[in-house]
Amino acid sequence: MTHKRSLILNENTHTLCELPILSGTTGPDVIDVETLYKQTGMFTYDPGFTSTASCSSTITYIDGEAGILLYRGYPIEQLAEKCTFLEVCYLLLNGELPSSTELLDFQSTITIHTMVHDQLTNFFKGFRRDAHPMAIMVGVVGALSAFYHDALDIKSKKDRDISAIRLIAKVPTIAAMCHKYSTGLPFMYPQNKLSYVENFMRMMLATPCDDFVPNPVLVRALDRILILHADHEQNASTSTVRLAGSSGANPYACITSGIACLWGAAHGGANEAVLNMLKEIADVSRIPSYIAKAKDKNDAFRLMGFGHRVYKNHDPRAKLMRATCHEVLTELGLHDDPLFKLALELERIALEDPYFIEKKLYPNVDFYSGIVFHALGIPSNMFTALFAMGRTVGWIAHWDEMIADPDQKIGRPRQLYTGSKMRNIPENHGKST
Ligand code: ACO
Repeated sequence: MTHKRSLILNENTHTLCELPILSGTTGPDVIDVETLYKQTGMFTYDPGFTSTASCSSTITYIDGEAGILLYRGYPIEQLAEKCTFLEVCYLLLNGELPSSTELLDFQSTITIHTMVHDQLTNFFKGFRRDAHPMAIMVGVVGALSAFYHDALDIKSKKDRDISAIRLIAKVPTIAAMCHKYSTGLPFMYPQNKLSYVENFMRMMLATPCDDFVPNPVLVRALDRILILHADHEQNASTSTVRLAGSSGANPYACITSGIACLWGAAHGGANEAVLNMLKEIADVSRIPSYIAKAKDKNDAFRLMGFGHRVYKNHDPRAKLMRATCHEVLTELGLHDDPLFKLALELERIALEDPYFIEKKLYPNVDFYSGIVFHALGIPSNMFTALFAMGRTVGWIAHWDEMIADPDQKIGRPRQLYTGSKMRNIPENHGKST
C-alpha cells in the first residue's frame, strides 16, 4: 500500500485535519479515516458501507463498472474455463494455482475429510422434517466446532489450515444430508473414488437402491457453478464472517454466521427467490405486469436476480452462468424448458426497459443458477445451500487472511445516535395514582 497526503477541512472548528490516502494495486484509492475521530471528534456515517473499505485484502478484486472479477489476479472467465473448483479453492487459500503434485495432494486431503463424525447425524433428528435446509445447515455446521476441540487454536496456522480443509470437505456432505433428511431418504456416505462434485451429486441425488453414474457434462457444469460462487470480496456474508472472526470466535462458528447471512433474499437467498418468481410469473404474457410491479415505488416487489451493489454493468458470473445453463439444458434435452424461455424473455425485456437501464440493473449470478439447479434435479430450497458450498472457501480464505494479520483488531463500528437524550425516571414511576 502506498500513501499520499490528504487535507480535509473541519467546518466547525476551522481546523485542518490531515488524513492519509492509501493506494492498492488496482482500484480506487481509499481515505484512511482511522485518526479522524481523534483529530475532529467526528465519525464517518455510511450505513450499508456504500463508500467504505472495511479492510485491505489480497484475495479478490471486482471492477463493478467494467464487469471484471479476479481471484488472486486471475479473471473469472479463465478460471471457469481452465480450472476445477478444487484448483480454485487451492488458489484462494494459498494465493497461487497448485502444481499437479500439490493439486493431487490437496484433492486427496479434501477427499479423506468428506465424512462427518457419525454422532453428527443425531443433530438432524432434532429438526422437523419440513425445516428449511438452510436452517439445518446453520445448526449442523455450527455444531462442527463441538467435534474439533483439538484444533481450534486460531493463532496456530496448522489448526487454521485443518479447519479450512474440514469445512470445504464436510459442507457438501452436510448440505446433502439436509436434503436427505427433509425427504426422509437415508444419508449417503461419501465415496473416496469420486471427485468432489461427483461425490456431492451422489450424496444429494442418489439412493442406496441405485448405482450412481456421473454425467461428465453435468459434473463439469456444477463444478463451474461452484467456481463462480467461490468468492466475491467483502460481500455481506464474507463481512459477517470477518466481523464474527474478529472477536476470536472459532472458524466453524464464523462460517455459520456467513451461512446465516447468505440465506437472506437480498444475498444468496435470491437464487431460490428467482425460481419462485419465475414460477409465479408462469407465462411470458405476464412479464409486463411484473416489470411494472418492480418499477412501482409503492410495491415491495423486486425483480429477483437483478441488480447488484457493485456491478453497474453485466455481472461476469451471470454471463458464464447463462452459458452453463445452455449447456446443461442441451445435455438434458430441455432446451425448450418453459422456465428458461421465460427467464430469457424477462432478461430481454428488462434490459430494454429505461428503468433498468438508468439504474444500471443487470442480471446477477443468481438469475440463471436456479434454472441450472432445477434442471439438475435439485429442489429450490437447496439452492442457497449450494451457494454456501461454493462460498465456504471464500469465507475461510478471508477469515484466515484476517486472523494472520498482526494488526487485526475486533470489528466495532460506531453509530449516529438518534434516540432520547439523557432523562430521569419520574419520582412517581410505578406508584399507583
Ligand atoms: N428490481 C427493481 N428495482 C431494483 C432492483 C430490482 N431487482 N434492484 C435495485 N432496484 C432499484 C431500487 O429500488 C433503487 O431505486 P431508487 O434509487 O429509485 O430508490 C435502486 O435500484 C438502487 O437499489 P438499492 O437497493 O439501493 O441498491 P443496493 O446496492 O442497496 O442493492 C441488491 C443491491 C440488494 C442486490 C438489489 O439490487 C436487490 O434487491 N436485487 C434483488 C435481489 C437479488 O437479486 N440479490 C442477489 C444479489 S447478488 C448476490 O448476493 C449473489
